[in-house]
Amino acid sequence: MKKVAVLVSGGGTNLQALIDAQEQGKLKNGEICCVIASKPGVYALERADRAGIPYDVVARKHYASAEEFDHALCEKLGGYQPDLIVLAGFLCILGKEILSQYANRIINIHPSLIPAFCGDGFYGLKVHEAVLASGVKMTGATVHFVNEVTDGGAIIAQKAVAVQEGDTPEVLQQRVMREAEWKLLPYAVSLFCEGAIQVKDGKTVIDQSKRQEESE
Ligand code: GRF
Repeated sequence: MKKVAVLVSGGGTNLQALIDAQEQGKLKNGEICCVIASKPGVYALERADRAGIPYDVVARKHYASAEEFDHALCEKLGGYQPDLIVLAGFLCILGKEILSQYANRIINIHPSLIPAFCGDGFYGLKVHEAVLASGVKMTGATVHFVNEVTDGGAIIAQKAVAVQEGDTPEVLQQRVMREAEWKLLPYAVSLFCEGAIQVKDGKTVIDQSKRQEESE
């Protein structure tokens, strides 16, 4: 069983998707060992508490630099010894210490079809505002490994979502979360925990033979 640490900064709907998958036996060979928030009082912590999952806060604003925050995060994570770190609505950029200590063991969910509408400044509603402003008819979500480039790591899975007439950024964000993010994240965590993801030349190869039978 692989231990999964989930880093959050807000409402925690992606965390909830992982909790629900775990309770339904769909988080194959993975178990959420802790939830760590980058600020106190976020609703994601209530979700962890309700699910009986250990949670902590490493408040970004308590640290003078990104490096000190990174080190504090590493210290906190060290207490749980996770096999995988999941960024679920986590709004802080990770630094060298955590990226090297957990190389190829950090995944992120981004609310667009990378390489579109991603990179510095593209997060939360800003992504969907840019999608609507561009006039594209299709958007979606991407789960990818995290490296030193914002939204730049190897792509693990993607799911497309149609933009509809009259969409507002809020309506589109909810559809992308409901139809794509909340499905992709448990799927990608299961793939990782089953050892079904290989990375070759910066691209992922999924070995379906490593997957457990879907539970009924
Ligand atoms: C949302 O914008 C979502 O698209 C992105 O992070 C934000 C908050 O997600 N992944 P959550 O509800 O905190 O999981």
